[in-house]
Amino acid sequence: LIFVAHEAGNLNDFRAILGNDVAVTAFREGELPFPDGTIITRLAWSYVASEENNKVFGRSQSFVAGPAMDVQFLVKDSKKYAATGGWGFAQFKDGKPADESVHKTCFPCHEHVKARDFVFTHYAP
Ligand code: HEC
Repeated sequence: LIFVAHEAGNLNDFRAILGNDVAVTAFREGELPFPDGTIITRLAWSYVASEENNKVFGRSQSFVAGPAMDVQFLVKDSKKYAATGGWGFAQFKDGKPADESVHKTCFPCHEHVKARDFVFTHYAP
């Protein structure tokens, strides 16, 4: 596990960023650019209030992961994905890939963090 986050607004989710061993080592050591073989996954679940927990606490304060949302991947292969900063971008929902129009949006937005090899997430030690 590399990081967790909550997006409000339209997304309204909890998300967990996971990495394979290559990714976790690179994050820990602050290695940039990430080496080939790095895989970073973003899982997300809808953000829902827990009535069960709130009853125990006696007030409305508890939020938990609801149904799973889409899953996104970043796969580093500097030769294969040279046109998009060395990263392959993929999004799936219920095991099915999102269409090409969705995938066209990934790299242009991740270019905002070009200085960090197109990866937004910071490592939460
Ligand atoms: C509008 C901008 C935007 C678009 C479009 C976008 N992302 Fe991201 N992505 C972000 C931001 C901001 C984060 C970090 C915050 C978060 O996790 O919500 C992020 C995080 C990620 C992460 C976790 C690693 C990291 O960079 O922090 C993955 C994996 C990812 N995105 C994949 C994708 C894929 C695949 C697509 C296209 C299907 C995509 N993203 C489209 C903005 C974007």
